[in-house]
Amino acid sequence: MKSYVARRLDVIEPSPTLAITALANSLKAEGKDVVGFGAGEPDFDTPQFIKDAAIAALQAGQTKYTAVSGIPSLKKAIVDKFQRENALTFKPEQVIVSTGGKQVLYNLFMAIMNPGDEVIIPAPYWVSYKDIVTLAEGKAVLVQAPIEQNFKITPQQLEQAITPKTKVFLINSPSNPTGAAYTETELKALAAVLEKYPDILIVSDDIYEKLMYDGIPFFNLPMVSPALRSRSVIVNGMSKAYAMTGWRLGYAASEQTEIIKAMDTIQGQSTSNANSFAQKGGEAALNGDQSFIEEMKKAFVERRNYVVKELSAIRGLKVPMPEGAFYVFPDISGLLEAPGFKRLMAEHPEEKDPGKLLSSVLLKEHLVAVVPGSAFGYENGFRISYATSMAQIEKGVSRIRACIESFW
Ligand SMILES: Cc1ncc(COP(=O)(O)O)c(C=O)c1O
Repeated sequence: MKSYVARRLDVIEPSPTLAITALANSLKAEGKDVVGFGAGEPDFDTPQFIKDAAIAALQAGQTKYTAVSGIPSLKKAIVDKFQRENALTFKPEQVIVSTGGKQVLYNLFMAIMNPGDEVIIPAPYWVSYKDIVTLAEGKAVLVQAPIEQNFKITPQQLEQAITPKTKVFLINSPSNPTGAAYTETELKALAAVLEKYPDILIVSDDIYEKLMYDGIPFFNLPMVSPALRSRSVIVNGMSKAYAMTGWRLGYAASEQTEIIKAMDTIQGQSTSNANSFAQKGGEAALNGDQSFIEEMKKAFVERRNYVVKELSAIRGLKVPMPEGAFYVFPDISGLLEAPGFKRLMAEHPEEKDPGKLLSSVLLKEHLVAVVPGSAFGYENGFRISYATSMAQIEKGVSRIRACIESFW
């Protein structure tokens, strides 16, 4: 029968992280004791004062459409946040609130891409970047940041990737999936390259800004380079810092008022405003007591240290210490030499991707859900989200150890 689905779907893939979570959930529904390391969301509940603000708004009848780009008081809270925490100055018309950081990025690329425009994306990258850029008819130019570079690209790599068609450099630090965060010095070195190319727009996805560990301070490109400020778009959101994934609230700010206006137009013709009373919750989150984040970070650091220590001791895995976010990304290049893994690869000639093969064995035979590295543009690895309880982490890590040790 004729397919009614548009051709644009041929070039994009369903979100692999959501797919893994769905498969793990269906195994759980069959009664299997699956450890889920797939989800990209904090396992904490949203703080009560944020819920209270949304409930109060709901009770007060704030149940109508709002301005497409967000309620003025939330936009003010966002402007204040940038001034207070990043020393960056924006006007309210340079801010837009959307239904999650993902929609911010979708609106942004729909608003700026012409066919064939290139977007430089360091890999491993967050799963949706490439598909969002592709849907917007842009071309994702991937720059590999291998484990030897602690999953960060060098200024030389950046410069080599630039062509006359480069429109955007997209950076995510701390990163999903590696947790790697660029230092101030490293960002300054990247900025020095970008300062030479005045037409390139900088998109900084700062969604893990608040989840930096060991006292390492957060920086982004516009913070370290005043010259880049007028051509940067900062993307951020409530999901990760305030455990608000289900609320669907994200935002962007840019001195390029024209871009924010174009995003407003896209949003106005698709979803309109973000949920009215969720916006009041978001406002409370940004303006309120931030000590909840410190509590959450304490738990994350303890889990991160445990996961890195345990996995590093497994032969065949290389596991750098992530500076932020809640992911660990072991490199499995060493495992390709293990006799049992070689045998497994030989038994599955249809699966050339070692990370996918390992992830599928881990889920089906050892009941641990991880996301294969290829989902993030890096085949020899897999991602663990440690946003789950210590008890689950201990169980899952020991299953991974049993699986991998059996290959030697
Ligand atoms: C790097 C990165 N950017 C953006 C998002 C979007 O998050 P949300 O749409 O929940 O705000 C995510 C979520 O996983 C992410 O990891």
